[in-house]
Amino acid sequence: MELPPDLFQLCLSPTDSSTPVRFQAGIAMAAGALHVEAFTSLDVAEYEVLGHCRRELLATPRAVGVSEWGGPDHDRMEATIEEGFWRIAWRGETLHMVAAQWRDGFDRNARTWLVGPSPELVRAFALDVARTTNEPRDAILVFHGSCWQRSHELYRATQQASFDDLILARSLKEQIRGDFQRFLASRSAYEELGLAWRRGALFLGPPGNGKTHCLRALVRELNVPSLYVQSVKARYETEEANLKRVFERARQLRPCVLVVEDIDALVNAGNRSFFLNQLDGFEKNVGLVVLATTNHPERIDPAILDRPSRFDRKYHFDLPAAEERAAYLALWQRKLAGKVSWSASTTEALVGRTEGFSFAYLKELMVAALMKSISAGGSFDALLEQECVTLAAEMATRKTAMGPLGTVAVDVDSDD
Ligand SMILES: Nc1ncnc2c1ncn2[C@@H]1O[C@H](COP(=O)(O)OP(=O)(O)OP(=O)(O)O)[C@@H](O)[C@H]1O
Ligand SMILES: [Mg+2]
Repeated sequence: MELPPDLFQLCLSPTDSSTPVRFQAGIAMAAGALHVEAFTSLDVAEYEVLGHCRRELLATPRAVGVSEWGGPDHDRMEATIEEGFWRIAWRGETLHMVAAQWRDGFDRNARTWLVGPSPELVRAFALDVARTTNEPRDAILVFHGSCWQRSHELYRATQQASFDDLILARSLKEQIRGDFQRFLASRSAYEELGLAWRRGALFLGPPGNGKTHCLRALVRELNVPSLYVQSVKARYETEEANLKRVFERARQLRPCVLVVEDIDALVNAGNRSFFLNQLDGFEKNVGLVVLATTNHPERIDPAILDRPSRFDRKYHFDLPAAEERAAYLALWQRKLAGKVSWSASTTEALVGRTEGFSFAYLKELMVAALMKSISAGGSFDALLEQECVTLAAEMATRKTAMGPLGTVAVDVDSDD
């Protein structure tokens, strides 16, 4: 199959609502008896990377691309072809593909035309591309600005999170792990009893006490696709429409985990009833685990917080008591064994003086002391004690600046 060399110029200058019509006509003319079908979003490039087809970029019409600074370490220019024409080899068949992108007012359009010997073959290919590339695999789907993006970075961070270095009061850790493992393993038991196989859990507590850490370790351990809602606010889309997208995608991937961090900021008076409707969809949400976190349970509507069957489990991540503070310092001691050490009496003194510290502050204490020991040296015991005094003073300033709870992480003005 051959396309006219000036197809892209003809169809894209200018662009307006007739652009797809002109493409369709131009491609159909060249395709003759072959079947031509247009698709809005098909990630054939990803499908090829995954080894399911082979594409060959054809020279005419000449492809148009843009290059962008990127890569995981921002060490390369990455080229993307926006307009192009390819031959595709798939399961012993040959198809052709035309891709183009353009703007129509504020809308950004991306379209893919597939050309093949029959409608059945074209659709079977398209369906397999959509299904295969929609799986998050080695990524976490992140919803932001009205669309889903695959985050490999968040996936890697999640894969590094472990329950081993999470210290929680009493049996909370085992309880959380057990609850979800049993839940995922007991689908048939739920169905036999006529219960909806789904679960919602809320992680509550002041900043820096392991909600996110635990959530990641849990997501890793459950090993099902996971989706993460960053924000449903967008300039050209309503929050309802975005929430609908969020839940629809989650339903496609069940069983899966849908994570809503800081749910108090996401759900507001305007979108609450819509959110609850989506959450309550009894049949539709089978296999859906919703995990939400908050520092501000008092800001959450009782309809979300207290009604059973929405968030049926609430786990409290409180400030560490002396026992957990000691366990956390011991964890660092094991981690640093052979490199840096300090005495048991220093640990004891620190445990006594860090009442009111979150785990994040304890971590800061360790990191700051380690950095000082690199730059200035000296006794590590003394450095720990110094940093403890500095941090306690900083915490006191924050609390006075923010009221008695001091739970919001805001920066207090400093002189520098
Ligand atoms: N219980 C804990 N055990 C071990 N490390 C912890 C614990 N809690 C927090 N940390 C460490 O402190 C840092 C901050 O923790 P995390 O992000 O999980 O807090 P959070 O409760 O989600 O806070 P926020 O409410 O501000 O989101 C992380 O590096 C984490 O590993
Ligand atoms: Mg967090």
